Amino acid sequence: MSGLPDAPNPVNLARHRDVGVGSLDSIELREVRLDVVALRRQGFAVPEGDKHQVAEDLRRVKRPILRNLDLRVESANQIGNIVVVTSANAGEGKSFLCVNLATSIASERDRSVLLVDGDLMKPHISRAFGIENEPGLTGFLADESVQIEDVIFRADAPGLFVLPAGPVSGFTTELLSSKRMREAFVEFSRNNPNCVVVFDSSPIRHSSSTVVLTSLASQVVVVVLAERTEQADLSTALEALDETKAIGIVLNQTQSSTEEQLYGWPDPDLGNPSSEST
Ligand SMILES: Nc1ncnc2c1ncn2[C@@H]1O[C@H](COP(=O)(O)OP(=O)(O)O)[C@@H](O)[C@H]1O
Ligand SMILES: [Mg+2]
Repeated sequence: MSGLPDAPNPVNLARHRDVGVGSLDSIELREVRLDVVALRRQGFAVPEGDKHQVAEDLRRVKRPILRNLDLRVESANQIGNIVVVTSANAGEGKSFLCVNLATSIASERDRSVLLVDGDLMKPHISRAFGIENEPGLTGFLADESVQIEDVIFRADAPGLFVLPAGPVSGFTTELLSSKRMREAFVEFSRNNPNCVVVFDSSPIRHSSSTVVLTSLASQVVVVVLAERTEQADLSTALEALDETKAIGIVLNQTQSSTEEQLYGWPDPDLGNPSSEST
């Protein structure tokens, strides 16, 4: 290839065909309605406007995530634009945060979002969007003839794409840790560099598949439910994570949210979020 720096890279092209991941802008995808009323009914309140408290809080969560995306690049143990949202236990607000974070990031001018329902045991995001019976992530991973554009939906909100969980499999951890999974998301990220991939996940204390998912991510957001999550459970969850990742903590459902309460980066190398402007 020397002497031909601008020539198309045939290796990339072949891999592109293998997993079928092009730029989302140029691919025809099935569409799914972003039914705000249905999402609200199911508890996934979507911020109504700039003055909404949740919208304001989400900006504080979102800014350090976006800043870290710009700093982090692909390496052997992370894919630069993957963010996994998890928590120690069920019901702490993972799916709620994912939906709202995804819509908030998608509203950024130069970003799009692929919201992936990675909670394969309780695929509430897939259900909320009415796409729980689609092949989704597990369908893609289990069947080599399926391409990723067959399973991704374009939501009718600019820049928002959704990948449902797919059928429950007895081999969840194996599927998520497969070469196909890594290759698909490496390729996806290369072809969609401005697309933030937000993964919902199962509670980290109850699912080995979540640890596998976080191994792909450059950032992990751990949701802590105010006055409910036990310190010991949070410690167990944090211990399961690779400390080379950027790990953010969101304190959910506080009575009065301040920036310090809501978000923190334990990794001192990543700076202090309280100095972040919104
Ligand atoms: N900040 C919040 N404000 C209002 N409701 C919330 C908030 N966080 C979570 N919920 C609600 O709490 C319940 C559990 O949240 P969910 O995101 O489904 O938890 P998880 O995905 O961690 O199991 C849902 O009904 C959700 O709508
Ligand atoms: Mg959930």
